[in-house]
Amino acid sequence: MAPLTIAIDGPAAAGKGTLAKRLAAHYALPYLDTGLLYRAVGRRAAERGIDLDDPQATGEVARALDAGEIDEASLRGREAGELASRVAAHPPVRAALVAFQKAFAADPRGAVLDGRDIGTVICPQARVKIFVTASPQVRARRRTEELSAKGRAVDYERILAEVRERDARDAGRLEAPLKPASDAALLDTSEMDIETAFRAACDLVDRALDAE
Ligand code: DC
Repeated sequence: MAPLTIAIDGPAAAGKGTLAKRLAAHYALPYLDTGLLYRAVGRRAAERGIDLDDPQATGEVARALDAGEIDEASLRGREAGELASRVAAHPPVRAALVAFQKAFAADPRGAVLDGRDIGTVICPQARVKIFVTASPQVRARRRTEELSAKGRAVDYERILAEVRERDARDAGRLEAPLKPASDAALLDTSEMDIETAFRAACDLVDRALDAE
């Protein structure tokens, strides 16, 4: 039987990462958060004073990236997400990161990857594809609560504007835009807590496994 590869895509702050991590633990699969690759490129380019709108210069940063050196903790914030979304629009940046992601997805043990183009570009052959969404309002509310729980002063309206802006950029780009693969299952978590979303995702995976 083919290895179990699970592709999770969806917009910012939809809960993809939490879901993907839990699925990976549950099915004992290696996990790759592909957003971290773009975050690392965006941060590195910004640190070096490189123009984030320059496809060639940012592409060079992406080609030089060593995925083994990525420091997740420093890349988690909204600012790195914003930098990532900008450099991710450039074809040379995406091209430089494809091989690493495809190799990860080809692990004979199977894998879980989350991002924007996993089901469409990186892993079109994935056995399970889930497109995780939630309304912009719900995503902005979750993010606001998450940040204020960490003691940060945050403004819901501002976060909502950021969420909408990031959606527009990720879905509007020409190269590998954010969109569900034609054979992806849609999981709208607007009305779900994480436990319910996790159970729904497990049902999708188990059904795919049973179908073989
Ligand atoms: O999933 P994330 O929020 O960490 O991703 C940050 C940005 O990186 C996102 O706004 C767009 C880009 N990205 C992408 O273009 N393709 C991916 N597979 C993952 C992330």
